[in-house]
Amino acid sequence: MIDPIERPAAVPRHVAIVMDGNGRWAKKRYMPRFFGHKQGVDALVRTVLACADRGVEYLTVFAFSSENWKRPSEEVSGLMGLVLVAVSKYLAKLAGDGVRVRIVGDRAQVSDKLREAWQHAEDSTRHNTRINLSVAFNYGGRWDIVQACRQAMAAGIRPEELDEERLNSYMALSYAPDPDLFIRTGGEVRISNFLLWQAAYSELVFTDCLWPEFGTAELDAALAQYARRERRFGAVPSRALATSGS
Ligand code: IPE
Ligand code: IPE
Ligand code: MG
Repeated sequence: MIDPIERPAAVPRHVAIVMDGNGRWAKKRYMPRFFGHKQGVDALVRTVLACADRGVEYLTVFAFSSENWKRPSEEVSGLMGLVLVAVSKYLAKLAGDGVRVRIVGDRAQVSDKLREAWQHAEDSTRHNTRINLSVAFNYGGRWDIVQACRQAMAAGIRPEELDEERLNSYMALSYAPDPDLFIRTGGEVRISNFLLWQAAYSELVFTDCLWPEFGTAELDAALAQYARRERRFGAVPSRALATSGS
């Protein structure tokens, strides 16, 4: 058991990132939004390797939300195509660098081609252990909770058997500890249906940096903020107990 009141370890085990701001980054440059998404893939690859170098064990990134289907169809199909390009351009490098890739999200709605690319990415990195990259694609925190409940019901779990641990075992990220650090780039201060269940006690860091510009300086700034936080998980800090003498 870990002490419930702890200074966070200097490095978070699990970092989650809402990679936001690609469109605005491109707009600032009078470029189409797609250009921002393309640069966003490069920022992701940089960040995965930088996290691995710093000892982060799990990195979970929000790439496409359950709600992003509301975007113009050209942008949605551009993003789907970009995934295929990104897999063919970067998978070998990530695999060679020890990255294990998993995709979390509803695969039912995506094309066969995309499903195959995801499967290939997962299969070809299955034995890697340096860092676990989870790409949340067609993912929503609410979707995750509902699909977990459905799986539990389908498995015949009785209501009195269901507790947090049991439900968590059916969630998309059941293989990972809860995220310690939750970063959102792009200046918006909201969760946008990312890890609703898992981020219950994550430390939140919001930065105005637009995702394509995210690099080691921004990552280190977020890690430094994290290292200064005091995590309590609902308990009383030990120094407060010491001063009150109880
Ligand atoms: C995030 O960047 C990437 C996706 C949601 C796919 P945006 O596309 O949301 O960029 P902004 O927020 O419009 O700048
Ligand atoms: C969140 O960003 C989703 C991803 C980064 C994939 P959005 O740009 O979709 O979020 P909202 O619409 O600003 O809340
Ligand atoms: Mg956005």
